[in-house]
Parts: sequence; C-alpha cells; structure tokens
Amino acid sequence: MQMPRLAWATDIHFEFASVDQIVAFCQTVIAAEPDSLLITGDIGQAQSIERYLRALDKALPMPVYFVLGNHDFYNGSIVDVRAAISALAASSAHLRWMPEAGIVRVGEETGLVGHDGWADGRCGDYAASRVMLNDYRLIRELSGLSAPARLSVLNALGDESAAYFRRVLPEALARYPRVIALTHVPPFPEASWYQGRISGPSWLPHFCSQAVGEALLGAAEAHPDRELLVLCGHTHGGAGVEIRPNLRVVVGAAQYGQPVMQDVIDVR
Ligand SMILES: [Fe+2]
Ligand SMILES: [Fe+2]
Repeated sequence: MQMPRLAWATDIHFEFASVDQIVAFCQTVIAAEPDSLLITGDIGQAQSIERYLRALDKALPMPVYFVLGNHDFYNGSIVDVRAAISALAASSAHLRWMPEAGIVRVGEETGLVGHDGWADGRCGDYAASRVMLNDYRLIRELSGLSAPARLSVLNALGDESAAYFRRVLPEALARYPRVIALTHVPPFPEASWYQGRISGPSWLPHFCSQAVGEALLGAAEAHPDRELLVLCGHTHGGAGVEIRPNLRVVVGAAQYGQPVMQDVIDVR
C-alpha cells in the first residue's frame, strides 16, 4: 500500500502572482499526486483570500488544510476574515481551516493540527525595535495603536494560539506517534531566518512566536516517545531546525510573486 503524501506550501501570496503562476502552482501540486495540500498562511489579503481559497478548492482534487498568516488580514480585520473563512470552510468539500478542523488523521500513525499563530513581540527587543510591519497599519486590530498597546495585542494573539496548541496537542500526541503542527510564524528564534541569517533583536519580536514555541516544547517534552514536526513560514527564509530530538521545525523559503510547493512529505 502506498504511504499517504502531503504537499506543503507556504506564503504563496497569490496577490503578487499572475493567473498563469497560480495555475502553474495548482498544476505542480496536482502532478505531485498528494493526498492533501497543507498551507501555512499568507495566501492573499482580506479582500482576496476567499477568492483564492475558492480557486484552490475548485482546481485541486484533494483536501486543503490551512492556517492564516498576517497578510491574509491586510486591509481588513482578523475577526472579520476569520469569520468569513470559517463560513467558507464549513460550506466547502475540500477546504479545512485548522483551528476549526481540530485533530485530523492524515496517516495511520500521523495526526495533523494547526493554528494561525502570531509573532507575539516577546523574542528579541520589542522596546528598542524600530521595525514597523505593514501589519501595524493595515490590520484593524493592530492599527493606530501606541507601541505598548500594540504589544498587548501581539501578546494576546500569541497566547491565543499557544492556548489552542496546549489544548489539542496532548490528545493528538496520545493518539498518534507522529504529529504535524501547522502555524504561520516560526515558534523559535533559531528557526526565524530572515535574509540569510537568524533574525536579530529588532526583527525577532515580529518574526517569532515565543508563546507558541513554549506550548510546542512543553508538549514535545511531555511526550519524548512521540514526534512533533512543525511547518511554518512568515520569514520567507528557509530553515530546518531540530529543537529537540522529537521536535523539528521547518520554515518555508518563499518569494513574493513566485508561489511554489515547498515539499511533498510521505507519512506513515
Ligand atoms: Fe509571507
Ligand atoms: Fe507572514
């Protein structure tokens, strides 16, 4: 019997791609003959994300398990986009938004979980950082805030994802020897590569989710006999880091305007 195969893509940013590139992306995925496609966020923006997901739903003959990235909320709000995506996934045969899909069986021995995740401002030096991501102008919940007020929102977004992982991971790891966790933002500084090196103290607050990292590490350490693979994106700087012997983080390498499939993963 053939092992299940999972295609993985991240930061495909379809708003920067031509229709031909989007079609070519879908053809690449179909040609790989995966059982499912995993996407770890930054698919479009608030006004376009539903359209892009519908296009993927129509073009691809397999389930699409995804989380949302910060860009997916640009020119809109987190609460509105999440509500729209929740409704879209509920009415679709193939689209599965991970925070609502829960623990998904993708192989006899492999489970899948995921949450959007957010850079929570806790790694690096937020107070000294002059980095002003577009997030802080273009996402309603984050715009027009003072730096300290923005930090509380970033903390809360990170905590929300961490709480989700704390809730589902014990059960997922009890059920499956191997669990794949999808999230948008690298959960450890070592995995947060930007422009060829580990992000410095100014960028880390915006490029790493410490709260999610702590939740993942806690789960991996509580289940040393289980394996946890984390797939993420956001920094666009490809990286593969072994945080613990049973906790590996892979960050996709991405370029605006060039949506690609990162990998095809065989699962047991
Ligand atoms: Fe991105
Ligand atoms: Fe991102």
